[in-house]
Amino acid sequence: MTASTTAPPITTDDDWWRSAVVYQVYVRSFADSDGDGIGDLQGIRQRLPYLRDLGVDALWLTPFYTSPMIDGGYDVADYRDVDPMFGTLADFDEMITDAHALGLRIIVDLVPNHTSSAHRWFTAALAAGPGSPERARYLFAEGRGAHGELPPNDWESIFGGPAWTRVADGEWYLHLFDPAQPDLNWRHREVRTEFEDVLRFWLDRGVDGFRVDVAHGMIKAEGLPDVGFSTMTTGQRQVELLGKGRLPYFDQDEVHEIYRAWRPILDSYPGGRMAVAEAWAETPQRLARYIGPDELHQAFSFDFLDATWSADSFRKVIDTALAESTVVGAPTTWVLSNHDKQRHVTRYGDGDQGLRRARAASLLMLALPGCAYLYQGEELGLPEVLDLPDELRQDPAFLRTGESRDGCRVPIPWSGELAPYGFGPAGSELSWLPTPATWQALSVGAQTDVPGSTLELYRAALRIRHEHPALAVDADGVTWLESEPGVLAFSRTAGTTVLTCVVNLSGAPVAIDGYGEPVVASAALTGSGSTRLLPIDASAWLERR
Ligand code: GLC
Repeated sequence: MTASTTAPPITTDDDWWRSAVVYQVYVRSFADSDGDGIGDLQGIRQRLPYLRDLGVDALWLTPFYTSPMIDGGYDVADYRDVDPMFGTLADFDEMITDAHALGLRIIVDLVPNHTSSAHRWFTAALAAGPGSPERARYLFAEGRGAHGELPPNDWESIFGGPAWTRVADGEWYLHLFDPAQPDLNWRHREVRTEFEDVLRFWLDRGVDGFRVDVAHGMIKAEGLPDVGFSTMTTGQRQVELLGKGRLPYFDQDEVHEIYRAWRPILDSYPGGRMAVAEAWAETPQRLARYIGPDELHQAFSFDFLDATWSADSFRKVIDTALAESTVVGAPTTWVLSNHDKQRHVTRYGDGDQGLRRARAASLLMLALPGCAYLYQGEELGLPEVLDLPDELRQDPAFLRTGESRDGCRVPIPWSGELAPYGFGPAGSELSWLPTPATWQALSVGAQTDVPGSTLELYRAALRIRHEHPALAVDADGVTWLESEPGVLAFSRTAGTTVLTCVVNLSGAPVAIDGYGEPVVASAALTGSGSTRLLPIDASAWLERR
């Protein structure tokens, strides 16, 4: 373990996060430097030039801390160390130093709602027994029924089944996720000081921000009251039910005290250290409460991701998100894919149609004001892998609900003709999930410098987004333009320069002559001059100066 702090932060622009493009690295599936079939920190380090050339501003790394990996690292056993599978703290320091030298910022994942059951606090709690101070850091309770044989309340785990597990001495402990992820008691002073210290530990190592996991879940209603209905009945994951009503374990008012204590810590470091909440709340207004100068900088808005492929659906979520962002004075976050969701190529219909729509949606997202989060592989147009053999699936939710998030976590294809397509060092055939043969043609190598490839589309869009004054952070917001039914058209303006984004979600090609000169399009335009047409399921950016 290295004790020194390294990596000076980038200090040029404290507000960098307001319009950043953040690339989510699902660490175990990004790049494997040592040939064990699992991505690692040195793998990321080797691929930093690729990310710089892609044109992103920051990386968000999913958890790489010491973990039994029951939930892909969202079960942390030591918050201040790197799991040997991913490398060492020295590897982290080298990686962040190189990232900063290339102008890339690093956001790390913080998992405060629960620890791993292998965390020293939890093993101490089990050993110490009922009523002990060690148990007070978690949520242990006596069961119901004549002999305490029933769980303390009716809460269900987000991964399915009861949210309580009974230990040998008869007490039960709460786990909103897997039994290997016991929930912490955030009313306990020591829990709060511990995480404040963990924040400082990574800030001292130079991280530029945190993605806060389950940021709405840390405080549970006093008395742990029953929900009163089953939260799993729709077959949907429970987090997605949050919009349907307040739950006693999510979005409790006191959770905001935690963030009000964190913000001064972030602000005490130079360089614009930020935090983005993975939070779900009943209404956009309640979600907005997580954001502000005394709490967190951003919260993911998942409505854009959930929008269906229709002009009305996109228009509605965009308008709502922009209105909220004006109220709270913080930028909107846009996201189409992440490590928990089916990839957007597949959500939009898979195959050619899904890919066309995914490319169009990405161009739409990148034209909007605010911060865009990309998920690794979306720049390659990767689809969800739907046919993974059950025995290879590792998502703990799969065993309990039959739903699995493994299909969006398949290792990235980099190059070459043999699976896993350059994921590991030369000659390595290992990857923790198999890469489909069809991904040979989707690899970074296969798409680089190929006109019209998804990778070149992202590179072009990100370059224009950085350079174009009408897409700059201080440019005007969104002005909707009149358009045919099923077509979205909006412009952004800086001085006399106007950039218009047109998205064709209608059933016919649409004329786009009036909007200016095309600068990038998600599909080849047809016609020319005054009869230029945008095909269906496509987007274009056009410019007028
Ligand atoms: C968040 C993560 C997800 C994880 C869960 C429990 O929702 O995004 O991957 O399973 O928290 O930590």
